[in-house]
Amino acid sequence: MEHSPIPAFSRRRFVGTSAAALAGSALLGAMPVRAEDAASKKLRIALVGCGGRGSGAANQALKADSNVTLAALADVVEEQADKALENLRNQHPDKVTDTQKFIGLDAIDRVLASDVDVVLLTTPPGFRPEHFEKAVKAGKHVFCEKPVAVDAPGVRRFMEAAKLSKEKKLGVQSGFCWRANFAERATFEQIEKGTIGKVSAVYGDYLGGTPWVKPRKEGWTDLEWQLRNWMYFTWLSGDHLVEQAVHTVDKMSWAFGDVAPLRAVSLGGRQQRVEPEYGHIFDHFAVMYEYPDGARGTIFARQQAGTFNQNSDHIIGSKGYCDINGFKKLHRITGETSWKYEGPKNDMYQTEHDEFFASIRQGQPLNFADKLAHSTMVAILGRMAAYTGQMISWEDALASQESLAPKEPLTWDMKLEVPPVAMPGRTKLI
Ligand SMILES: NC(=O)c1ccc[n+]([C@@H]2O[C@H](COP(=O)([O-])OP(=O)(O)OC[C@H]3O[C@@H](n4cnc5c(N)ncnc54)[C@H](O)[C@@H]3O)[C@@H](O)[C@H]2O)c1
Repeated sequence: MEHSPIPAFSRRRFVGTSAAALAGSALLGAMPVRAEDAASKKLRIALVGCGGRGSGAANQALKADSNVTLAALADVVEEQADKALENLRNQHPDKVTDTQKFIGLDAIDRVLASDVDVVLLTTPPGFRPEHFEKAVKAGKHVFCEKPVAVDAPGVRRFMEAAKLSKEKKLGVQSGFCWRANFAERATFEQIEKGTIGKVSAVYGDYLGGTPWVKPRKEGWTDLEWQLRNWMYFTWLSGDHLVEQAVHTVDKMSWAFGDVAPLRAVSLGGRQQRVEPEYGHIFDHFAVMYEYPDGARGTIFARQQAGTFNQNSDHIIGSKGYCDINGFKKLHRITGETSWKYEGPKNDMYQTEHDEFFASIRQGQPLNFADKLAHSTMVAILGRMAAYTGQMISWEDALASQESLAPKEPLTWDMKLEVPPVAMPGRTKLI
């Protein structure tokens, strides 16, 4: 079956829409890019967080539209910014010419004070609520990597800024990239139209090895060490259920129509990665979410070297079930109706940016801020249930006052203790 990108925002439609027609659109009046310029202005892109994903996202953004330039990039580590700049200049010599570089913990503020239209937020997620709020207040369109927060106060802050982004008609593109994959879109379209009947259970797994760890060098302060190994510190990453397996959580949310779960119970712990270089996060989780009408969603997430790897989703309905394995290109329905995806393949990361820039050009910027916040919070609920060993309701999780970031403003020479590893039955929900 053929499946295409969201029709309203396909590049073909954009190319076929005249600048004059767009300039006449009422929606454009509220655009941060001046109305008369929306279709034709050179869009100035800024990258904040120049690591692996940020460099990829900037490359995709520069490919997505012919009339863009990389106006700025920012990082806390100069060599990261330099590496990204060199790669991007090699890939896009005509679009990376007068790029400004901002280095430091306040780099986001200096980027936003400069002349930019679209900001790519790809730092560790602990910074996302603050960066997103600042970008929205400054009237920028945002490409926002997942997850968007690491704790409930961060999600609430993000949600407030999300409201403002809609009032200002800003675009917010989401890093939940599977939602841009044609095969996933076609499969979830089948689920949404009832091909497997009412969904009663979802099982999803993200079982992998251990990501990189950077041994502490002499002279690195506590903050530098933690930032360079951000995945292992909950205030920066949210733990791997929230940072990585959130993709699987997001597909579960998609299958359940993005409604909130009622509550969650969860197992988890740290068995293999017990050394100090792995910070204080867990290495495995098994979460059971309860949804309305007795439906259940189960997520297994593991980061342990030498163990079985899998990233799959299994969705059970009253008339059949659906198997998805995005990396193995398996998208199949079995039951009253048999179906499998045989349409075109796409580079989901590129599609995210193609559709985003086309929507900005059309004066109707895509805004997925709510879905970003929602799936992030579902994952945080799972972590809270695992850390505490309690059954936790959606309301209690969302109302949590626990802010994981250090209380005092960040400085390079600050003392940063590593928090204790959570202990189910003893760690409290705050
Ligand atoms: N959608 C996906 O498939 C996907 C894949 C990989 C990563 N990600 C997400 O992208 C984000 C970044 O991941 P990554 O793999 O690129 O990590 P990374 O470590 O490679 O890059 C992060 C960069 O941010 C910089 N940084 C840290 N704090 C900063 C701050 N306050 N201001 C500016 N820069 C700062 C770091 O120095 C580093 O260069 C994470 O949220 C991650 O979950 C998403």
